[in-house]
Amino acid sequence: MTITERPTTTDATTTPTMHGGLANLDDEFSYWVGDVEGTVPHNLRGTFYRNGPGRQRIGGTPYGHWFDGCGMLSAFSIYDQKVHFANKYVRTPKYIQETRTQQISYRGFGTQIPGGLRKNVARLPGNPSNTNLVHQGGRILTMYEGGHPFEVDPTSLETVGEHNFDGALKRSMVFSAHGHVHHRSGDWFNFGAGNMGFDRNGPKNCFNLFRIDRSGKMADLAQFPIDRFPFAHDFIVSDQYAIFFVNSILMGSIAPMILGTRTIADGVSFDNNAAMQVIVVDLDTMTEVTRLETDPGAIIHFANAFEDGDTLIIDAMHSDNFEANDALKDIFNAECLRGGEYRRYTINITTGSLAYEVMSPTNSEFPTFNQTKAGQRHQATYMASSVENGHNSFFNAIQRVSFDGDIQLHTLEPGLFGSEPVFAPAVDSSDDADGYLLEVVYDAWKHLSQLWIFRAADIAEPIAKLTLRHHLPHQFHGFWHNDVELKYALP
Ligand SMILES: [Fe+2]
Repeated sequence: MTITERPTTTDATTTPTMHGGLANLDDEFSYWVGDVEGTVPHNLRGTFYRNGPGRQRIGGTPYGHWFDGCGMLSAFSIYDQKVHFANKYVRTPKYIQETRTQQISYRGFGTQIPGGLRKNVARLPGNPSNTNLVHQGGRILTMYEGGHPFEVDPTSLETVGEHNFDGALKRSMVFSAHGHVHHRSGDWFNFGAGNMGFDRNGPKNCFNLFRIDRSGKMADLAQFPIDRFPFAHDFIVSDQYAIFFVNSILMGSIAPMILGTRTIADGVSFDNNAAMQVIVVDLDTMTEVTRLETDPGAIIHFANAFEDGDTLIIDAMHSDNFEANDALKDIFNAECLRGGEYRRYTINITTGSLAYEVMSPTNSEFPTFNQTKAGQRHQATYMASSVENGHNSFFNAIQRVSFDGDIQLHTLEPGLFGSEPVFAPAVDSSDDADGYLLEVVYDAWKHLSQLWIFRAADIAEPIAKLTLRHHLPHQFHGFWHNDVELKYALP
């Protein structure tokens, strides 16, 4: 595939695209942000971590997919109405080697090593550790679902090394980028597609469900058979249950990937005839409760889930295709990156009934909410949206949908592009609506990024905008942590 990058223009007559936000940020910084418009709230204190691909090119050669850039952690430490910024790459073997050689040395989800079949045959994709993170057991783990997590020191952002929970996470096990903290126990649940042996038809596919306790130790592992190996990016945890939606996105045969003739992304496809399966697992016993089927579809990200009697309420983003993969494979030329519609599913555990309603049809992704309400009824969901604002090549709006369905949309000016909004609770407040929404905005006119702070209850206008000294490449996911890790925030 030939990739031609469209130039980002600063010509005042032409609105620039999001593509400038794909430029590498090779430097690592640590500084107090001095360019502040508005006021940082006095009751906002903690650290806003983000993870995402910090570079999309090595030695000038672009990767073949947005998912393949090396993971770079960012940390906004908010303290005494000031904000400190730091960023540091995760020192994966891929990052270390490709930095040294300045050549693409690892295959990726959608990237081949230059040099043809000989360079790619029998080579498994590398691990950029670029998708998400969690702060659990006193450590940060950065995650990528094609490999094991990496431990990072929260006070320095230095990489400690690959992490396998004292050997409990086997080399062959997939470990999703989307674990969820269980609010009642403080345990962290994660999952991964895997296999549970063989039968006459070959490998028996399954989901592995991992329970990691508050200290960061692997406390339990259970397996649940599935009849296909899906593209499974996320699941969700309520107070009592883990809920899996087995997507209609299929991974395809692994043989061409092993032979080096195509990438994983080349083999992924949406099957209009593959019903989604819903698997509900009891978290106390780690056993399956029920299994249902619903229409073909894809849920890439969930928001929240909770119980009301024997009814499960599950909020998620739903798509009836996987066209996003085409845009992600050709991210340097992507015209538009859309998402799904925001749905609320209701499942009756006793009767097995399943229904849904569309809470918002606006193309959106990266749904988030106040994490202190995980597994309980929440006040509102926030998401990155794609709307018509005259320039639509990426997320260009922020949407707030109250639990009852009231929608507030903040559309960015043309040439500004958004990201996953993250809720930060106000300090010392027992009102779960009392908090702030943090959003990194890329200003393509200036090729700079900003941290915007909104009152979470009303996103009409930000109350503060803090401009970094540089751009921040478009990222995937973030994590709010209530403490400030001052070691790296201090000069
Ligand atoms: Fe994700």
